[in-house]
Amino acid sequence: MKRQEFVDQLLKRAKGTPGTRGEAFAPANIALCKYWGKRNAELNLPVNSSLSISLGKLGTRTIIKFSKTSDRIFLNGKPAPKAFAERLSTYLDLFRPEGLFFEVRTKNNIPTAAGLASSASGFAALVKALDDLMGWGFTPRELSLLARLGSGSAARSLYDGFAVWHAGQRPDGMDSYAEGLSNVWDDLRVGILEVSRVRKKTGSTEGMNRTRETSELYRSWPAQAQCDYDELRTAIAAKDFPMFGKTAENNALAMHATMMAAWPPLCYWKPQSVSLMQKVWKAREAELELYFTMDAGPNLKLLFLTGDQAAVRRLFPKVQIVNPFL
Ligand code: DP6
Repeated sequence: MKRQEFVDQLLKRAKGTPGTRGEAFAPANIALCKYWGKRNAELNLPVNSSLSISLGKLGTRTIIKFSKTSDRIFLNGKPAPKAFAERLSTYLDLFRPEGLFFEVRTKNNIPTAAGLASSASGFAALVKALDDLMGWGFTPRELSLLARLGSGSAARSLYDGFAVWHAGQRPDGMDSYAEGLSNVWDDLRVGILEVSRVRKKTGSTEGMNRTRETSELYRSWPAQAQCDYDELRTAIAAKDFPMFGKTAENNALAMHATMMAAWPPLCYWKPQSVSLMQKVWKAREAELELYFTMDAGPNLKLLFLTGDQAAVRRLFPKVQIVNPFL
């Protein structure tokens, strides 16, 4: 099935009529059990289910209107870079009424780490804004199916707090949606440690495709991901922080191990990433309940509880602390 067919099928369920303006916000999210590998690239269907935590008020706000002559895309108040604008326009083609163009103004409020201002909150905010403009009246679950086509991880950015994206089994991808978990973990904190803002050479799509095709270690990934997903759900339900942190950190490192065993090899780490990891391990040896996760980039995201916040700040004075449930 082609993605246009998928979209057309979903749009048959749409209700209202288009307005003149749509606006929406979506939070960034950090995967604790990672999505790494597609079983269907056309429909963006993942090999494994994933689980994330959203970053509260940090994310993307998007306003969308119709435009007469061409798409006009703005990022943080300026005309968007070409590659960004093209990716959005190609995505908007899926929903474009005949003869019409869009004006999109999108802003990220993630102050630092460029590695965080990801496509996830961007595509989630865009589909929510589109829903507002077109009057579809879709549920978050339906919107997650559409956001998924823009970027897989965007499916999870439709929700606050914990979210899961079900891998699904159907070839048409209709069961590969995300949903929010009702669990609230008030004293959980995420700490962002920025190592570099430089744009990565190999994007996630290319990175995961290469890993899946060439890495012998990738064979063990689907089973580990399933196991980690189950453990994280148990740890969240029981608020078992050591189990939660250990599973998330191990899942991230296992994903990076599959990448390093790819060819050509893929390593998103910088020397400073490794020294920060070692600092976390040393702190843990000294009984601090501190863990980290990392995505396809050099930055670390720390996981800890509020009781340890002062100690974390002492160790990492530059850390940017986020309350995911605020
Ligand atoms: C390492 O969602 O950016 O952050 O679907 O190809 O756009 P595409 O990939 P993307 O990949 C995210 C990879 C990750 C893990 C995760 O967020 O689950």
